[in-house]
Amino acid sequence: MSTTTNPWIRDDFARTWTAGDVQADFLAVPRRIAATIVSLDRPQARLIADVGSGPGDFLAFFLGQFPDARGVWGDVSSAMHGIAEERLAPLGDRVDYVVADMSDISPLPKGLDALITSRALHHLRPDGLRGVYAQAAAHLAPGGWLVNLDHAAIGGRWEDRLRAARKQLLPPKPEGIATAHHHDQPPPTIDDHAAALRAAGFEDVDVPWRGFYTCLFMARKADQARP
Ligand SMILES: C[S@@+](CC[C@H](N)C(=O)[O-])C[C@H]1O[C@@H](n2cnc3c(N)ncnc32)[C@H](O)[C@@H]1O
Repeated sequence: MSTTTNPWIRDDFARTWTAGDVQADFLAVPRRIAATIVSLDRPQARLIADVGSGPGDFLAFFLGQFPDARGVWGDVSSAMHGIAEERLAPLGDRVDYVVADMSDISPLPKGLDALITSRALHHLRPDGLRGVYAQAAAHLAPGGWLVNLDHAAIGGRWEDRLRAARKQLLPPKPEGIATAHHHDQPPPTIDDHAAALRAAGFEDVDVPWRGFYTCLFMARKADQARP
């Protein structure tokens, strides 16, 4: 999606989507699983970046788990930047803000303990996904974690079943709030994610949680580069 056609950069869309996001309760468990797995492995984590962070709730959750860590909020949308600054104000100067497209995360700092992202990478084609995961690996410290809580294509009849069940079980959107947005192509599959993570050099790749078609992808960077 080009920057000029990306609806997320529009202030009205960013605010409407944020007001209509009814997935917070549904996502609470995978957010907790992700932060717990990282904290058990890397309790000394000090630097966490969130790509496509939007209002910043996932980053806020991680910074709650790691009270000594600093966060880097990253997103292409200046509109979301404004919303995130309001929402993350209680975290004060623990958060730095970087407005950048996820296709080039070079403005983010290196040596990250965790690079997290949620509900953003599913807009990418498999080659774009491979690019982001490769850049993520380069930005992580040895032993750092890649965490992606994202929608995946399931395909076939299960896709239909899961969409119908999810619609019935998630809370309805607030009256008059439309948050639908265009996707240029189906999201990458679970296999696309696993292959892209391995191609980026991650060794420990797993999906420790899945709800309907939303998956928690986690991968740990090797402690040391192999000779
Ligand atoms: C569905 S929202 C998810 C927000 C947040 N990660 C969450 O799960 O609550 C998608 C986010 O991805 C951001 N986004 C969309 N395209 C992007 C791009 N090309 N580069 C960086 N961020 C992008 C949007 O601005 C938006 O904040």
